[in-house]
Amino acid sequence: MNTALGVLTFVFFLLSLSKSQDYEDEKPAAPPPEVESCNGIFLSYDFNSRTKLYPRVKNATAQAWAFNATATILNTGTLELKAWKMFIGFQHEEILVGAGGAVLIDGDDFPAPVGNGSYFSGSPLADLKTAIDTAGDLSQIQVQIQISGTQFGVKPPGIPMPKTIRLVNDGYTCPAPRRRVKKSVYVCCVRNPKFKVAKTTKTKFLPRQKGDLTIAYDVIQAYENNYLAQVTMENKSPLGRLDHWNLTWEWMRGEFISTMRGAYTRKIEYAECIYGVAGKYYGGMDFSMVMNCQKRPVIADLPLERANDTKVGKLPFCCRNGSLLPPIMDPSKSKSVFQLQVFKIPPDLNRTALYPPEKWKITGVLNPDYKCGPPIRVDPTEFPDPSGLEAISTAIATWQIVCNITRPTKRNSRCCVSFSAYYNDSVIPCNTCACGCDDDDKCNPAAQAMFLPAEALLVPFENRIQKSIAWAKIKHLHIPKPLPCGDNCGVSINWHVNSDYKSGWTARITLFNWEEIVFENWFTAIQMKKAYRGYENVYSFNGTLIPGLNNTIFFQGLKGLNFLVGKTNGSSPRNDPKVPGKQQSVISFTKGKTPGIKLAKGDGFPSRVFFNGEECSLPTQFPIGNGNRCHVHLVEVILLILVTLLLLQNHHGQVVLFLIKPKEPKIVAQPVSMAGFKLEVFPAVELNITLGILVTVDNRNYGSFKYRNTTAYISYRGDVVAEAPIRDDTIPARGKHNISTTVNLIPDKLVKNPYFLVDAVVTGVLNFTSTTTLHGKVSLFKLLKMKGTSFCTCNISIFVLPKTVDSVCKAKFTL
Ligand SMILES: *[C@@H]1O[C@H](CO)[C@@H](O)[C@H](O)[C@H]1NC(C)=O
Ligand SMILES: *[C@@H]1O[C@H](CO)[C@@H](O)[C@H](O)[C@H]1NC(C)=O
Ligand SMILES: *[C@@H]1O[C@H](CO)[C@@H](O)[C@H](O)[C@H]1NC(C)=O
Ligand SMILES: *[C@@H]1O[C@H](CO)[C@@H](O)[C@H](O)[C@H]1NC(C)=O
Ligand SMILES: *[C@@H]1O[C@H](CO)[C@@H](O)[C@H](O)[C@H]1NC(C)=O
Ligand SMILES: *[C@@H]1O[C@H](CO)[C@@H](O)[C@H](O)[C@H]1NC(C)=O
Ligand SMILES: *[C@@H]1O[C@H](CO)[C@@H](O)[C@H](O)[C@H]1NC(C)=O
Ligand SMILES: *[C@@H]1O[C@H](CO)[C@@H](O)[C@H](O)[C@H]1NC(C)=O
Ligand SMILES: *[C@@H]1O[C@H](CO)[C@@H](O)[C@H](O)[C@H]1NC(C)=O
Ligand SMILES: *[C@@H]1O[C@H](CO)[C@@H](O)[C@H](O)[C@H]1NC(C)=O
Ligand SMILES: *[C@@H]1O[C@H](CO)[C@@H](O)[C@H](O)[C@H]1NC(C)=O
Ligand SMILES: *[C@@H]1O[C@H](CO)[C@@H](O)[C@H](O)[C@H]1NC(C)=O
Repeated sequence: MNTALGVLTFVFFLLSLSKSQDYEDEKPAAPPPEVESCNGIFLSYDFNSRTKLYPRVKNATAQAWAFNATATILNTGTLELKAWKMFIGFQHEEILVGAGGAVLIDGDDFPAPVGNGSYFSGSPLADLKTAIDTAGDLSQIQVQIQISGTQFGVKPPGIPMPKTIRLVNDGYTCPAPRRRVKKSVYVCCVRNPKFKVAKTTKTKFLPRQKGDLTIAYDVIQAYENNYLAQVTMENKSPLGRLDHWNLTWEWMRGEFISTMRGAYTRKIEYAECIYGVAGKYYGGMDFSMVMNCQKRPVIADLPLERANDTKVGKLPFCCRNGSLLPPIMDPSKSKSVFQLQVFKIPPDLNRTALYPPEKWKITGVLNPDYKCGPPIRVDPTEFPDPSGLEAISTAIATWQIVCNITRPTKRNSRCCVSFSAYYNDSVIPCNTCACGCDDDDKCNPAAQAMFLPAEALLVPFENRIQKSIAWAKIKHLHIPKPLPCGDNCGVSINWHVNSDYKSGWTARITLFNWEEIVFENWFTAIQMKKAYRGYENVYSFNGTLIPGLNNTIFFQGLKGLNFLVGKTNGSSPRNDPKVPGKQQSVISFTKGKTPGIKLAKGDGFPSRVFFNGEECSLPTQFPIGNGNRCHVHLVEVILLILVTLLLLQNHHGQVVLFLIKPKEPKIVAQPVSMAGFKLEVFPAVELNITLGILVTVDNRNYGSFKYRNTTAYISYRGDVVAEAPIRDDTIPARGKHNISTTVNLIPDKLVKNPYFLVDAVVTGVLNFTSTTTLHGKVSLFKLLKMKGTSFCTCNISIFVLPKTVDSVCKAKFTL
C-alpha cells in the first residue's frame, strides 16, 4: 500500500517536473496508469519536441530535425537494480549530442550516431534502490535521461519514436513496449523468478568483467576535498599491446589533478582552474603547483629513467615509457600503474562523494584500437599490506573500466601483408589504400594493386611504380589508369611460401618497417586455419603457440635481436632513397598432422596476421601456380629417380618383386640471416660480414642417410672467401635435420678482389656462390646400401645498403 502511494507521489512529481521544463506547446502527458500495475522496472520514452534544421530540403526523408526526448527508468519492484542498462532502438538516423543522466555504454563520444539503437547506463546514478528502502525518494529510485540530438525524415504530423525500448540487465524480461499516447511508449520489465544469480557469494557490487584490457580506478585515500586514486591497467589479451600509450578521460564534476606519480599529463596547465569554479573555491591555493586542470587531460607514462625518482617514480609497474606487452611475452610488463591526487569542488566536498572520470580512451602507436566501456563500480581491490605482514588493505572504492580490441574496418589498418610463393614469380602486394588514402586524384584508390617482382618489395612505394609498370608489361598484365594508390602502411609483412615437399613445407616471413620509429620487443602473430597443426619450427625468431588459441603462432625477436629498426635514408640516392628496417625468418611445417593440405589453394597462407596487436590487412587473392615455366626459386629440384629392383622371399617362399624408388635426400644450405655487416671504404677498406647459414638435410627415404664430414665453401667471383665445416651425421628414415652455422667472410681475400669495390660501392650488390658437397650412404632396410653425393649450390646476393641477403639454391643428388 505504502509502495503504491510512493509511486503515485512520484508520478505526480514527474508531472510537475515535466511541466516546468521546456515543453512549449505540448500538453503534459497524463500519468501512465501502467506504473500502478508494474511490479518491476518501469521504462518509458517520451518525445518532447523538435525543430526543423538547416538546410531545408524538399525531400522529406532527407530533412534534419533537432529533437528532445526523455527516457525514464523507475524501480517499482522490491529488489534493488544494480548497474541498470537500457536499450533504446532508435531508427531515424539519430545522432545524439547529449544524454544527461546517462552514458552510452559503448563509450562513444558525442555526437554519437545511434541510428541502429544504443545502450545507456547510469552516470552518476548507476543503481536504483527500491521505494521501500528509501521511503519513495525519487532521486534514488529513478533516473531520467535527457536526450537531445538530430534525426532525419518523418514528415509532420508523424512523430519519430524508437522501434523499441527495453531493460538489458540479466534476469529481467520485457514484453514489447506499448504506445500510450502518440508521443510516449512504455514497458514494464519484470524479474524472471527462475533467474539464478550466477554466484551466491554476497558481494556488494558487480563482479569484475573480463576484457582485453582492464583498468581499475582505486580510491586509496579520501579526504574532504581531495582523494588519492591509483590507476592500474592490465593487458589480458595474448595479442593486445600498447606502446607510448596516451590515456584520456573526462572529469564530469569539475575535478582537477594536483599531482601524479608514475605518469604525467601531456599538458601542465592550470589556467582552466584559475578562471573556473575551482579557482573561486580554492582562493588561497597556489595553482602553479597544480599539474593539470583540463576537462580531458591526456596522460602518458613516465620514461624508464624516472622509475627510481623518489618524487614521481618508485611505484611498482610504473615508468616503462608507455609499453604494455602481452602477458605471453613478459607478465611483469603487461601491467602499468600510476597514482594521482584529485581535488574536488562543491557540492562534492564530502569524503564519501567519489565519482570516477568517464569516457576513457587509450591509444598507442601502431597498436590495436581499444574501445572502453563506462566505469562500473566493483568490489574494492585488495592489496597486499605494504609492511609485509600477512594482511590485506582494501581500496576505499573501486571502479573497473573494460576496454576491448575492435577489429579494424577496411582501409583502417596500420599494417598490411603481401603474399608470394616459389611457384609464381609475381608478388601479390598489399591492398591499395590498405592503411587509408588521402583524397587526391593523382592515383586510383579503387584499382587493384599491381603485381610486383620480388625485389620491388624492398623499395618505398614511390620507387616501386616504374618496376610494377615494367613487370606488368613483361607479364602482359592490365595497367590501370590512373595507377593504383599505395598501401600507406607503416609496417608491411611479406609471406612467402618457400618450398613444398612430400613431408613438409617452409615459408619465409619478412617484416618491413617503413616508419622512422624503432619497434622494440616487436611481435607478430599468424593465424592459420589448417597449417597451424603442422607448425614445426622457426629459425631466427622465437616462435610459440598461444595456449588457448588453437590456430595462432606467436613470433618475437630472439633476445638481443628484438628490435625492428626504422626506415633509414640510403646514402646513395641514385639507387634506393629510403631503406626499410627488416627482419626475416624461415618457418618449417610438417604435413603429418595436416594431410591433404593444399598450399597454393590458400592453406599455405595465413588467414589473419597481427603486428604488435594491430590486425593487418590481407590481400584478397593467393599466388597461383603456373606450370609451364621454369622457376629459379624452386628449391626442391627433383633430379633423379632410380628404380631398383629388389628380390625378396616371402614366408611362402615365393619370390616377390619389389619396386623401390629411392629418393634423393634434399640438402639445402641457405643463408637466413646476416649480422655485423660493416663496410668501410675510407681510410682503409674494411669489411666484416657474418652470415647465419641454415643447412637443412631432409631424408625422404625409407632408409637412413649417413654422410661424412664436409665443408661448405663460399666464393666470390671465383675466390673462396669463407668456409663452414659441417659435421658428419646420420639422419634416420624420413627424418630431417637442421644445422645452423655461422660463417665469417674472410675480409682480406674479398677486399683484394679487383671487382669488390665496384660491386660494393657502385652497384651495391655482392654476389656470392656457396657450394656444399655431401658424400653419404643411403641404407634401405639394412640390406641395400647405396653411396650417393649431394651437391648444393646457392647464389647469394648481399645488398649493401638495405643490409639484406637473398639467396636461390639448387640441389642435385647422384648415386
Ligand atoms: C532541447 O533541450 C535543450 C535543453 O534541455 C534546449 O536547449 C533545446 O533548445 C531543446 N531543443 C528542442 C528542439 O526543443
Ligand atoms: C530523398 O533522400 C533519401 C535519403 O537522403 C534518398 O534515399 C531518396 O532517394 C531521396 N528521394 C528523392 C525523391 O530524391
Ligand atoms: C546500422 O546497421 C547497418 C547494417 O548493419 C549498417 O550498415 C549501418 O552503418 C549502421 N548504422 C549505424 C549508425 O551504426
Ligand atoms: C632502480 O633501482 C633498482 C634497485 O636499486 C635497480 O635494479 C634498477 O636498475 C634501477 N632502475 C633505473 C632505471 O635506474
Ligand atoms: C621464447 O619466448 C618464450 C615466451 O616469451 C620464452 O619463455 C622463451 O625463453 C623464449 N626463448 C628464447 C630462446 O628466447
Ligand atoms: C556526505 O555524504 C553522505 C552521503 O553521500 C551523507 O550521508 C553525509 O551526511 C555527507 N556528509 C557531509 C558532512 O555532508
Ligand atoms: C599522445 O599525445 C601526444 C600529445 O598530445 C601526441 O603528440 C602523441 O602523438 C600521442 N600519442 C599517441 C600514441 O596517441
Ligand atoms: C569485452 O569483451 C568481453 C568478452 O571478451 C565481454 O564480456 C565484454 O562485455 C566486452 N566489454 C565491452 C565494453 O565491450
Ligand atoms: C580448438 O580446437 C578444437 C578441435 O580441434 C575445438 O574443438 C576447439 O573449439 C578449439 N578451441 C578454440 C579456442 O578455438
Ligand atoms: C666481425 O663481426 C663479428 C660479429 O659481429 C665479431 O665477432 C668479429 O670480431 C668481427 N671481426 C672483425 C675483424 O672486426
Ligand atoms: C669429423 O670431424 C670431427 C671434428 O671436426 C671429428 O671429431 C670426427 O672424427 C670427424 N669424423 C670423421 C669420420 O672424420
Ligand atoms: C648478382 O646476381 C643477380 C641475381 O642472381 C644478378 O641479377 C646480378 O646481375 C648479379 N650481379 C653481378 C654484379 O654479377
